[in-house]
Amino acid sequence: MTCTLLSPSYGQEPARQGAAESGQLLYNNACRTCHTTKEGDNRLGPNLHKIIGRKAGSLSGYGYSAAMKEAGFVWNEENLDRFIANPDEVVPGHNMKPYGGLASAEERTRIVSFLRSATSGQ
Ligand code: HEC
Repeated sequence: MTCTLLSPSYGQEPARQGAAESGQLLYNNACRTCHTTKEGDNRLGPNLHKIIGRKAGSLSGYGYSAAMKEAGFVWNEENLDRFIANPDEVVPGHNMKPYGGLASAEERTRIVSFLRSATSGQ
């Protein structure tokens, strides 16, 4: 297993709010074609409302691939980061296509930060 893409956690920085804001722009560019963050609003992809803490492939109103349905883990910041870097590595056989992966660790951190701040509220 290769860990070279894993970024250290910069989550304790005071600039977190700014990171979430620029994360929204990155999210708009990279994810919003297929996803919303609104509960119940599924597009080509399932909605990402409260995605951190949600079981993978668990929305009842969305038709997941068998691979996603049976992934058997709960989304957290780490596996979400790995998934948007390289979905094939985290859920082989997934149906999130066409999606090329996001190579920049910094951009991924910002998107995950945006998803956490925009849709948290457990
Ligand atoms: C081309 C459309 C498309 C793009 C772009 C895309 N996704 Fe997806 N996404 C999908 C589809 C389709 C699925 C369902 C995959 C499956 O069932 O295997 C999915 C599934 C997911 C899941 C699993 C959700 C769950 O309920 O378990 C997450 C998390 C996710 N995407 C995050 C992202 C993020 C973050 C981005 C941007 C960096 C992104 N996606 C970009 C189409 C897309």
